[in-house]
Amino acid sequence: MFRNTATTVFRNTSRFQIGAAATAATSAALYLDHQQKHSTSSPGKVSCEKSKTYKTTLGSPVKTSAEVPKNKDLRVISLEELREHTDPDNGLWVSFKGHVYDVSHFPKIHPGGPGRIEMAAGTDLQPYFDVYHLHPDVSGFLDRTCLIGRLSKKDAKKSEKETVFANPYAEDPVTDLRDPFGGAPKWSNLMYKGHLDNFYTPNRDFYVRNHFPIPQWDDVEQDYSFDLVLPSLSEEDDEEEENERTFTLQDLRDNLQEHTVSSVMVCGGPAIYPRYLHRTDDRENWEVKHFKRNQANNNFWGGHGKWTGYKLRDLLNLQGIDVDAIALGEKPLPDKYLKLTGHDADETGAPFGVTIPLEKVVDPFGDVLLATKLNDEPLTPDHGYPLRLLVPGFAGVRNCKWIAKIEFSDDLHECHVDTHTDEVIYPPDMTFEDNAARTDVEMDEKLKHYWETNKIWRGMEKATKRF
Ligand code: HEM
Repeated sequence: MFRNTATTVFRNTSRFQIGAAATAATSAALYLDHQQKHSTSSPGKVSCEKSKTYKTTLGSPVKTSAEVPKNKDLRVISLEELREHTDPDNGLWVSFKGHVYDVSHFPKIHPGGPGRIEMAAGTDLQPYFDVYHLHPDVSGFLDRTCLIGRLSKKDAKKSEKETVFANPYAEDPVTDLRDPFGGAPKWSNLMYKGHLDNFYTPNRDFYVRNHFPIPQWDDVEQDYSFDLVLPSLSEEDDEEEENERTFTLQDLRDNLQEHTVSSVMVCGGPAIYPRYLHRTDDRENWEVKHFKRNQANNNFWGGHGKWTGYKLRDLLNLQGIDVDAIALGEKPLPDKYLKLTGHDADETGAPFGVTIPLEKVVDPFGDVLLATKLNDEPLTPDHGYPLRLLVPGFAGVRNCKWIAKIEFSDDLHECHVDTHTDEVIYPPDMTFEDNAARTDVEMDEKLKHYWETNKIWRGMEKATKRF
């Protein structure tokens, strides 16, 4: 018997400090406003405050560089005034290289999530960018979109010095392949004879792309577990009632049969590019620029693996979900998605999360696994040890690592990774084939403007700096 419990405590895996100035800003996890509409769904144990509404428009019309005011024409803003603006209602202001910006519009479209922008409000961007050095020089973009004044030279130095942000990735394991956060082998490494003879990408050369620091457990058998939140099992149940169950690794071993699936996994990042191309009038130039960049990076963000673990449909079946009847269309899908939350979280405590279509999971040929091994070896911490999802045919980002919670849901996950990919890149039910074929997705005009006028995107392979 599996244990039924509602008392498992979510392990906060954060291992960093945010300095005095930064902690003045809220450390609550932040969610996008359209998620708030769904506040009736249970927040569950891995949940964060859902209370903020962000402006979604750009702070001011995008100017050309020539229209950006000169320093002498800018209002001098005091450090005190900057530090007062840490709230979406009052405005989110940051300093950078002596300039002050009102970034109230930015949380919703920030690829690193809304929480980090609010966390940085009232402080200076440089210390964050010293850690997250994936950022290109954003000063031009900020100058054109939301410049509101400048600090005195003395205050500019003080603002930067008093913003303290320790590297949250300091304890992440580092291998030859990667820095924390992500890495992928050079094409040339994959092409030498030993690899060409091998049907599978060797583990040491299997790309890694994480969004948050890697959670680790002292005693994984003892301490690791994940929760499954089922929909109501009988019609008599209150609709809102949820059945929450907790599973350890031993529970899986004792009750489920192991399966092995061969599957290619490719990072969602490269998959976005064909979609961009269809959205820009400057298709030819964009393509040339993009491919130049990719040739320079020359890394391969994909791998072919032999994955071993337990079928998620078997687990659902054992818990009373009639997956066969649902797959055959004899019973309706209880919900549209399965929502997966990882044990990993960002600096504000907001956990990683994505959704996958439930249809894929109940499909007897869907092969969605709760994976414990890659190429016959236990997963390494950066690949999701002890338990990650494998969703064959779906972008890498959907293959949630360090699973903490699985829920039935009609809504997307609150995590920016899911909502961001849905709005800007591709929805959770998009397969590789769809991704290549779909060209007609409408995009919010303002976001479109943002993407196409600000080419500030770069590769991720050196995303954070190690101290
Ligand atoms: C208003 C200031 C900021 C701007 C304009 C900005 C802009 C960007 C851009 C353009 C990217 C995408 C880079 C790429 O994929 O090539 C990005 C990603 C990211 N940013 Fe920022 N950023 C800002 C502030 C911050 C702050 C303060 C933090 C951290 C505390 C942060 C953390 C991140 C992270 C972690 C990512 C990578 C997200 C992922 O792919 O997992 N950013 N940001």
